Amino acid sequence: MDFKRNILVTGGAGFIGSHVVRLLVTRYPDYRVVNLDKLTYAGNLMNLKDVEQMPNYVFVKGDICDFERVSELMNRYAIDGVIHLAAESHVDRSIRDPFTFARTNVMGTLSLLQAARNYWESLPEGYEGKRFHQISTDEVYGSLEISHSEGIASPFTTNASSEHHQAYGERFFREGDNYTPHSPYSAAKASADHFVRSFHDTYGLPVVVTNCSNNYGPYQFPEKLIPLFINNIQHRKPLPVYGRGENVRDWLYVEDHARAIDLVFHKGRTGDTYNIGGFNEWKNIDIVRLLISTVDRLLGRNPDEDMDLITFVKDRAGHDARYAIDSTKLQRELGWEPSLQFEDGIEKTVCWYLEHQDWMDQITSGAYEKYYEEMYGNR
Ligand code: NAD
Ligand code: TYD
Repeated sequence: MDFKRNILVTGGAGFIGSHVVRLLVTRYPDYRVVNLDKLTYAGNLMNLKDVEQMPNYVFVKGDICDFERVSELMNRYAIDGVIHLAAESHVDRSIRDPFTFARTNVMGTLSLLQAARNYWESLPEGYEGKRFHQISTDEVYGSLEISHSEGIASPFTTNASSEHHQAYGERFFREGDNYTPHSPYSAAKASADHFVRSFHDTYGLPVVVTNCSNNYGPYQFPEKLIPLFINNIQHRKPLPVYGRGENVRDWLYVEDHARAIDLVFHKGRTGDTYNIGGFNEWKNIDIVRLLISTVDRLLGRNPDEDMDLITFVKDRAGHDARYAIDSTKLQRELGWEPSLQFEDGIEKTVCWYLEHQDWMDQITSGAYEKYYEEMYGNR
C-alpha cells in the first residue's frame, strides 16, 4: 500500500510517545507511522497494545544513537516527517547518571538530524514537504521565581481553566527566552534543541520545536510524581515530597499535548518554536492533597486518614522553583486550547490507574520488559 506520508516517531513506546502514536495511526489511516524505540526501562509496548495490529503501524526496536540504523530506516520507509520524542526524561536519574542523558538526548538527536538531512538532501525534491519536529520541555528555560506564595489570579484564562486558576509569579516562559537549564536532563534537552535550530540555520533543515510543560495521564512511568503517588496512596505507602512541597509546576493532560504536537507538526511555521502549556500552575503539596482526596473518594476511604502518608524528604539537588508556560502563541496562531480542567484530568487519570492495576503490576514486577520478545521476538 502506498501511504500519503511516512512518519518516524522516536520514543513511541514511552509515555507521551505512545499517545502521539495512537493519535496518528487512528486519525490518519493513510499515514504510515514507524515507531523507533530502544525499549529502555521507560519503553513499554503494552502502552500500544490497542493499536499494534493496525496496518499503518510499524514498530522497530533500535537506538537513535545508531546513525547507520537510523539512516537505513529513513531510506527503507521513505520517511518524510520525524517527530522526535525519544529521550531519557527523569530529572532524578539525570542527577545520578548524566552521561546517559548526554548520549541519548544530545548525540541521539544529532544522529537523527544528520540522517534526516542526508536522506532528504539525496531526494530530487530535497526538503520540500519534509519536517523534523523536536519535542522539548519548558525545563530548558530554567526556573522562575515564586513571588506569590499563595498565588494570585492567573492573567490567562482558557475554557479549561479551573477554580484553582492561580499564578505564583509575574513571569512566564515565552518563546525566544534565553535557555538557562539547571539539571543534567534539561541541559541535555537544551543542547539538543540548539542542534536542531543549528541544522535549520546552517543546512536549511525544515524544523519546528515545541516546549511543553509537565504532562500527566495514563501510561506514565511510575517514577514521576503523579503515577508514583497514585500507586503509593492506593497501597498506603509513604509519599516522599521533596523539600516542603512548595515547588510549582504547570500541568497539562497528555492527550492535549499530543493534539498540540499533531497541530504544530502539520500547521506550525518552519523554523518556529511553540510553547505548549495549560496555564495550570500547582504547588506540589496541593497536588499531593488533591491526589489523596481523589484516590480515597474513588476507593470509598476517608482521605483524612491518609494525609499522614505525606513525608517531607531531602530536597532534590538544584530543584527548580517554578515553571510556568505562556502558550498564547499556539492558542492565537493555531487555535489550540487545553481541553480539561486539572481536577477533571486528575480524576480521569486516577480512575485509569485504579482500573489498570494490571498495567502497574507488570511495571512493578518488570514483566513488561519481556513483552517485546513475546510479540516480536521471532520476526
Ligand atoms: P519517557 O521516559 O516515558 O519515554 C521515553 C521513550 O524513549 C521510552 O520509550 C524509551 O524507551 C525511549 N528511548 C530512550 N532512549 C532511547 C534511545 N537511545 N533510542 C530510542 N529510544 C529511546 O518520556 P516522556 O515523558 O514520554 O517524554 C517524551 C519526550 O517529551 C521527551 O523528549 C521529553 O523530554 C519530552 N517532554 C516530556 C514532558 C513530561 O512531562 N513527561 C514534558 C515536556 C516534554
Ligand atoms: P517529576 O514528576 O519528576 O517531574 P519534573 O521534575 O520534570 O518536574 O516531579 C514533579 C515535581 O514533583 C518536582 O517538583 C519534583 C517533585 N517530586 C517530589 O516531591 N517527590 C517525588 O517523589 C517525585 C518523583 C517528584
